[in-house]
Amino acid sequence: MRDYEPYFTEDGSIGLYSFAEKDVFHSKFGALTEAWEKFVLPARLDEFEYDNLKVLDVCYGIGYNTKALMSFLINHEKFKKKNIFQKLIYIVAICTNKLFKRNKFLLSYIESYNANKLSSFQIDCLDINEELVKLSPLFRTVKTPGEIYDSIVPQILTCFDSYYTIRNIFINIFSRFSPKNKKEINELLDLKFKNMHIEKEYKINSYVNYILMNSLAEYYKKDFPSKELIKMLREKKNRRFFDKSLIKYAKFNQKWGYNKSSRWSLSAFLHNIYYATLSRRYKKMNFKTAESLFKVNFYVEDARKTILTLKDEYDLIFLDAFTYTKAPQLWTVEFIAELYKRISPQGLLMTYSTSALVRNTLLENKFYVGNIYQKKTNKIIGTIASKDKTRIEHPLTPYEIGLCNTKAGIPYHDPNLSFDKKDIIDLREYEFRHSDLMSSSKYMKIRSMRNE
Ligand SMILES: C[S@@+](CC[C@H](N)C(=O)[O-])C[C@H]1O[C@@H](n2cnc3c(N)ncnc32)[C@H](O)[C@@H]1O
Repeated sequence: MRDYEPYFTEDGSIGLYSFAEKDVFHSKFGALTEAWEKFVLPARLDEFEYDNLKVLDVCYGIGYNTKALMSFLINHEKFKKKNIFQKLIYIVAICTNKLFKRNKFLLSYIESYNANKLSSFQIDCLDINEELVKLSPLFRTVKTPGEIYDSIVPQILTCFDSYYTIRNIFINIFSRFSPKNKKEINELLDLKFKNMHIEKEYKINSYVNYILMNSLAEYYKKDFPSKELIKMLREKKNRRFFDKSLIKYAKFNQKWGYNKSSRWSLSAFLHNIYYATLSRRYKKMNFKTAESLFKVNFYVEDARKTILTLKDEYDLIFLDAFTYTKAPQLWTVEFIAELYKRISPQGLLMTYSTSALVRNTLLENKFYVGNIYQKKTNKIIGTIASKDKTRIEHPLTPYEIGLCNTKAGIPYHDPNLSFDKKDIIDLREYEFRHSDLMSSSKYMKIRSMRNE
């Protein structure tokens, strides 16, 4: 059985479907768009002064959220300037230190600069899936619909070449069906991407994958990125990520289930940057500047174990676990309590989930909770939480809080952070059956009758 199925999401970025979890890793509306709109932009990083941002990416997967965040930080003028300014002071400190013959104060500044310059932004990435983490820098993060179109049309034309040969023989019969121009081919293929024009900012900076590759090489010192990676790339089950003909364009129809969706074969979407990483390109000076902004750490095991070992306080937490009905382990009161302990006083936690259960779990842990809106559509697309009330721009409405207090909001428990999925679900089922709370449907009915 294959582990994952890759597909194009509607913004042209690649998404993965997990056969084991029977769930998607990424929103079909756009894996990259989701990373920006649900995780990076709601953090409003340009409005606050962060000197040493610490970020916890719970469920790193193939790293969209981390990659989008890194791109934001690399591209943002504010951080670029800060870096140059810091550098200037550092150079002045070195020169003056020579003049003043090893001044204590200047020496300690130089030392702290040297210690900090590699870790202005610390990102701790947690995921249980070692294979995906290792492969993550190799995923080319987005391909525009135009590029997809260009790569599929030549293939189709090849088919039409044969068609035209036959057509010469049966010209009279077939002439009616011959495609006249590209537009018709496009219609034929039904290549409809809703987000045809992904925002300029929703791109991954070209250095990001190189930086991650280097961080992973550091983490897997012994076996990465050399022999083991090559072995992984050659493995049959991974080949479809890189093989030209094996990447599919999936037209999703959720009713039918992801694994039964219709597909068109496409030429390769992914481009193996492993060899590029070995090239000298990344040694360019500005790459070094970008790289020196980040310290990326990987923790590849069950996040419930990792979290207990983390000593830092985080300014941002991305919580991107699979849907709670399928993987409740990272949505329990006890796991969220561990996140609460590790978030800074003004820190922000972001998640794509808008469910009453997840929001109630956050509320039970004394978080202030609010909505994340998509700017263009003004639709609620996620949930944001903080210990600091003033950091929540759009707090939950009384109606939404009421919904959290219905049966739908009954949270999951995992007392020792070690229960298996079934036990966590069964425990909640029991509580659900014995609860006196109102059902969410009754609540919604009453509120709609009152026109609320
Ligand atoms: C929805 S996907 C996350 C997608 C990811 N943010 C990305 O950009 O690709 C969920 C991820 O949770 C990971 N996961 C599942 N259970 C986990 C656990 N107990 N601890 C840590 N990671 C887990 C899976 O391996 C998967 O990569």
